[in-house]
Amino acid sequence: MQNKKRNVIVGQSGGPTAAINSSLAGVYKTAIDRGYKKVYGMIHGIQGFIEGRYIDLAEHIESSLDIELLKRTPAAYLGSCRYKLPEIHEDKALYEKIFEMLDKLQIDCFIYIGGNDSMDTIKKLSDYAIITGSKIRFVGCPKTIDNDLALTDHTPGFGSAAKFIATSVKEVIRDGWSLETKNGQVVIIEVMGRNAGWLTGATVLAKGEDCDGPDAIYLPEVTFDVEKFVKHTKDLLKKKASVVIAISEGIKGKDGRYISELSDVTDYVDAFGHKQLTGAAVYLAKVVAERLECKTRAVELSTLQRAASHMASLVDITEAYEVGGAAMKAADEGDSGKMIVIVRLSDDPYQAGTEVKDVHRIANDERRVPREWISKDGTYVTDEFVTYVEPLIQGEVGPIMVDGLPRHLYRPGLHDLF
Ligand code: F6P
Repeated sequence: MQNKKRNVIVGQSGGPTAAINSSLAGVYKTAIDRGYKKVYGMIHGIQGFIEGRYIDLAEHIESSLDIELLKRTPAAYLGSCRYKLPEIHEDKALYEKIFEMLDKLQIDCFIYIGGNDSMDTIKKLSDYAIITGSKIRFVGCPKTIDNDLALTDHTPGFGSAAKFIATSVKEVIRDGWSLETKNGQVVIIEVMGRNAGWLTGATVLAKGEDCDGPDAIYLPEVTFDVEKFVKHTKDLLKKKASVVIAISEGIKGKDGRYISELSDVTDYVDAFGHKQLTGAAVYLAKVVAERLECKTRAVELSTLQRAASHMASLVDITEAYEVGGAAMKAADEGDSGKMIVIVRLSDDPYQAGTEVKDVHRIANDERRVPREWISKDGTYVTDEFVTYVEPLIQGEVGPIMVDGLPRHLYRPGLHDLF
């Protein structure tokens, strides 16, 4: 019988992670196993595709070793984008163009690996397919270190970032005890996550038999008060000479402004209207140094926290791969306008599976840390938070080391297209 399956196209979108390529590997392997002829990769997501940039992945992933390398290569192998498609009624010509391009490539399944903004792309394209009667299926594969996607227990990428962040916080705490400083010292660590405090909360995992953990944790879910912060820090300094505090990049004062805006580090705004959040720790370290006359240091984990594949979580990399496979399977079996979600079956032993949910309920939404998982005074997270996050950082999946450094999947030819 003739194989009626034609081709697949996959793209990566939004902020990169240490696990996004593992999902790409899962999509690719499943598509091939299910009999698709070609798997195309969009270069820089839908934005690059509109400009005609895509590749045939078979020319770049040549062996099972390449798939293993891809799973362990951080950042978006295909390149990513933060690009918002216009509403259908605003630019029908653009949608016609995209669908013409997809038809020309004989695409049956379109898989997009991304976060809440990226799911907006799946939503709009699947809506347009319904309007025009196109048979192309559009399925989203969740990804974001921020862990802020609705309906899923957690998102691939989060566990590895959380593992790196908790490890780094533990190392900074250790460092803090090494030297004695006049009036003590305060280190403020700024963690990504935008308006959701999942990653900042994960710094609590530094706490254990051999470490006190951070002395305070400030999430964006609670309004930030600079005066209360200074007072709390002062109290902590009375008890210990080295204080380590984790803050989210997204903490806001009661006027609704990000604390980072007080630092004047940058005014950059992306296509989704998101301000670049950076500088909150620098600002607060300056305030504390002036007011408490102590040594301070601002540590911004920045890009390191989403690119640290040397500290990846085995649970995360494995789930990312499986979720990629599940997205491909769902599209192959006829789903469209859907996203794969992870469903937790138990905490201990940790068990999880996947389900398929309507992307219209997910796109553009933000899932934040429940208030009851944050201490009453807003300066720490509760045991429930720990129970939730702990299983997600378990297990190691080290890089393949060559000449003392991690080897990544890299094709010079591919990068010429960027
Ligand atoms: O999208 C995830 C994320 O890592 C956020 O946590 C963060 O605010 C943002 O991306 C930073 O993106 P960029 O490095 O492009 O400024």
